Amino acid sequence: MRKKVTIVGAGNVGASCAQRIAEKGHADVVLVDIIEGIPQGKALDMLQSGPVVASDSRLIGTNSYEETQDSDIAIITSGVPRKPGMSRDDLLLTNVEIVKGVTESVMKYSPNCIIIIVTNPLDAMAQLALHVSKLPRSRVIGMSGILDTTRFRTFLAMELDVSVEDISACVLGGHGDTMVPIPRLTTVGGVPVTDILPQETIDRIVNRTIKGGGEIVSLLKAGSAYYAPSAAVAQMVDSIILDKKRILPCAAYLEGEYGIEGVFVGVPVKLGMRGIEQIIEIKLTPEEDAALKKSAEAVRELVEVMKLR
Ligand code: NAI
Ligand code: 2OP
Repeated sequence: MRKKVTIVGAGNVGASCAQRIAEKGHADVVLVDIIEGIPQGKALDMLQSGPVVASDSRLIGTNSYEETQDSDIAIITSGVPRKPGMSRDDLLLTNVEIVKGVTESVMKYSPNCIIIIVTNPLDAMAQLALHVSKLPRSRVIGMSGILDTTRFRTFLAMELDVSVEDISACVLGGHGDTMVPIPRLTTVGGVPVTDILPQETIDRIVNRTIKGGGEIVSLLKAGSAYYAPSAAVAQMVDSIILDKKRILPCAAYLEGEYGIEGVFVGVPVKLGMRGIEQIIEIKLTPEEDAALKKSAEAVRELVEVMKLR
């Protein structure tokens, strides 16, 4: 039987997620938005591509939550994206109200679901969803690390003129300017990039990765990235519904791992049908460890603004 995936927010990211997930054919998709007609129209359009792309996934669009009942996964993309000159953190006060209300509605109809948060500022919104849903921490996961690593991998593949498939990258930390790419653990065909590329080239690529979201915002002028983000979400959904147990970088609520307590931070996790089945702890150098802790503190500062209790 196909799984059921709800996607809240039928904008750029939500609609792209719906398309990618439905085209794989493993899940039926319910697309929810507050704007009348948009989720219905987009879902119907995607449904009609089924015969061509050979997918029997059912898609429906709606403005209410009844149809989301008993979803296995709920993906929350509702909220405003950045405009040029804004940081992800500038979205906090607007998106906190949206994500709070949406999480309550999702939980009313799917109390045992796994929530994937996409809305920015990512780590703070994941913490809000964990707080509101009261789900175990294994079932609230933030999408950020796959996006940040896929950018890093893309830029490295361009630099080295090799297949993107042969690059494996490690990026830890919050989804923002304090993210922590780890070149020491980033490999090309198993060889660390630090053995292949000069330090100044690595620094340039790391810097472009950290600013990767902003680069796209400044090109698009209205809105932010959605093709790579939706690909990242679809990879997480696959790993969960097919119980693949992939090791993927995701935002997870830490309770002492990496010496960090009570905050969402991007770390490698094992993703399976129970959600986060394991948080993988990598041995870091003192510099990497300090950078990760600094990133966690930046997330904590934002979380404190929300005054969750
Ligand atoms: P968008 O503006 O295209 O779509 C947002 C949608 O949310 C709109 O259709 C809007 O009507 C809907 N919405 C607003 N309030 C709602 C509510 N209460 N219930 C249901 N739907 C509601 O924005 P886009 O590009 O899809 O981005 C969405 C969010 O995802 C932004 O906060 C953006 O920053 C974030 N994002 C995060 C990424 C990550 O790596 N975690 C990557 C890309 C985007
Ligand atoms: C990005 O990194 C918008 O956070 C999103 O593109």
